[in-house]
Amino acid sequence: VDTSLMVSSSSSVSPVILSQDELKKIAAYKAVEFVESGMVVGLGTGSTAKHAVDKIAELLHSGKLKNIVGIPTSKITHEQAVSLGIPLSDLNKHPIVDLAIDGADEVDPQMNLVKGRGGSLLREKMVEAATKKFIVIVDESKLVNYIGGSGLAMPVEIVPFCWEFTLKRLEMLFIEAGCVGKLRTTGGGGDEEPYVTDNGNYIIDLYFKKDMGDLKDASDAILRLAGVVEHGMFIDMATTVIVAGKLGVSVTNK
Ligand code: 5RP
Repeated sequence: VDTSLMVSSSSSVSPVILSQDELKKIAAYKAVEFVESGMVVGLGTGSTAKHAVDKIAELLHSGKLKNIVGIPTSKITHEQAVSLGIPLSDLNKHPIVDLAIDGADEVDPQMNLVKGRGGSLLREKMVEAATKKFIVIVDESKLVNYIGGSGLAMPVEIVPFCWEFTLKRLEMLFIEAGCVGKLRTTGGGGDEEPYVTDNGNYIIDLYFKKDMGDLKDASDAILRLAGVVEHGMFIDMATTVIVAGKLGVSVTNK
């Protein structure tokens, strides 16, 4: 654990209690240290990745980084990068990404991830599957003993056609793990509408009472269902995980 990034309230030893957002920023800035001039960089989505995109723009404008090309993983990150003046491209023109930086919702001890609670899992997976180095940036609240272990959602992007049917089939796959699926919605107070992804699809959030078993088997079973586009488990994809916690920041490489 590198404690050099801990902040002290004065020259005395009492540390400042950092907010979750400050921890996210510390992890993000640490990841940006790996970005070099001339790189094609996958730009992640979410409140943690946003700090990394801000920092890359700052370094570009100060001249410390040059000739960066960003590949955004969502419409919102695309908008952020455009507003900051980061030159952008896509996987058609740059099929090999040098480095991608993104947040995650869960990180297990093997560096497997859950992503997509922000809804961008498909584009994130496409960009992050095409990168040579994938740096995951999280605060310590995202660490879990096993995937699904936070009790929060594991998202699955599906086509809107007959979504209830697909939801039931997803639940049936994991009946022994007590899986319950919910269509993600926006709005409230009786005005809920299905949440629609950047790709025009819906999201089913899966909740597990128990470990879902072998992750590769679970992934294969989900992807075999017609109607499923992609799921939010990123198995064996991260090459580096940066965790910011109250005691400092750790960088773990695979
Ligand atoms: C979006 C994602 C995000 O990376 C994930 O939800 C983490 O978000 P945050 O950094 O806001 O906690 O996968 O689809």
